[in-house]
Amino acid sequence: MTEFKKENPKLTADEKLNLLVEFGARISSELRLDKLLDIIARQITRMLDVGRCTIYLKDVERNELWSKIAQGRGLEHTEIRLPLDGNNIAAIVARNGETINLTNAYEDERFSMAIDMVNDFRTHTLLTIPLKNNNGKVLGVFQVANKADGTAFDKKDEGILLLLATLAASSIEIAKLYQDVHVAQLETIYRLAVTAEYRDQQDTRAHLKNISIISYLLALALGMTKKEAELIKNASPLHDIGKVALADNILLKPGRLSPEEFEIMKSHTIYGGRILEGAHSKVLQVAHKMSLYHHEKWNGTGYPKGLKGEEIPLEARIITVADVFDALCVSRVYKKAWKTEDAYLHILSESGKAFDPRIVAAFKKIFPSVRKLYTNQTPAEENIPTQTLPTQTGTAQNKISLS
Ligand SMILES: [Fe+2]
Ligand SMILES: [Fe+2]
Repeated sequence: MTEFKKENPKLTADEKLNLLVEFGARISSELRLDKLLDIIARQITRMLDVGRCTIYLKDVERNELWSKIAQGRGLEHTEIRLPLDGNNIAAIVARNGETINLTNAYEDERFSMAIDMVNDFRTHTLLTIPLKNNNGKVLGVFQVANKADGTAFDKKDEGILLLLATLAASSIEIAKLYQDVHVAQLETIYRLAVTAEYRDQQDTRAHLKNISIISYLLALALGMTKKEAELIKNASPLHDIGKVALADNILLKPGRLSPEEFEIMKSHTIYGGRILEGAHSKVLQVAHKMSLYHHEKWNGTGYPKGLKGEEIPLEARIITVADVFDALCVSRVYKKAWKTEDAYLHILSESGKAFDPRIVAAFKKIFPSVRKLYTNQTPAEENIPTQTLPTQTGTAQNKISLS
């Protein structure tokens, strides 16, 4: 991987060529948009030796330009949003599709100092070029500021930036499409889960949000990779999908269920398993295990199969802890909400009985973060991805919106 270095020695023509070849190979295999933009921004920063590089992409629905990647002083992890019809340099380039090269940004009335002000940066020279696809459609803009040697951007710099943009455009388009499909898939899963839970719970969103975050944190605490943890988080809302097959007189019965009715209630695990059986996508395969086995118990006294210990898939053992904890913490027609501390003690007391001791140990570790969920605080330090949680806002640490 080519790392951006702060002390950037002048690159020879050969080194630049090598960087370009390596760049082409790396971006063509990267499907994650955030990662891809990061690679591109680093490459631009390195090749042009600039103090700041910002990649703006068009958000057509909101008629805005947005950027999450801004290399250089002060702007890491900052999301910037600009109106596409505004009178700022990036928007003008995006609209007109033509390069703007400023030798003294502060003397140009179209330049907005707002981003500089919040980040204690002073833009001197500024080069902004359009990012176009093969058909000439503008996808966004690349913007670089302040060459390290203090000189203005020249035609050679413009050429290099345009070349990088040309190389990057199709990768960005593909990654955007891939992301759109991924988000659409997750959103469909989430809405489906809401449908299943909606009949017997009014606070469905809170329940699904809490269990997905707890499952995610548990997976990480168990040593899973971020990718594996995200799969668990995204699949978890579907654990009770089988409830769609239960009749109202069972699912919505206000009082206690008779033994016969409880037997029917238990079948929501079987139905969930059938609904998700044979799924192709990884997330639905995980959801299948969760929906079928989330009422199994570590000591073998659960249902539907009475599996014991590690016979129960790990994903199901995780969701079980998250689901029971959240169910205890909310009020229902038939019970009051438990205090989080009491629910926590209950989880600990069931270690080795209902729950896998390893997962209870992980729960112990994450409990300080979990507690925040129930006091209306976000456990921010974990930077939890929120793609399946439409009720939450984005995860960018800073947001700047300019009018
Ligand atoms: Fe269930
Ligand atoms: Fe649940």
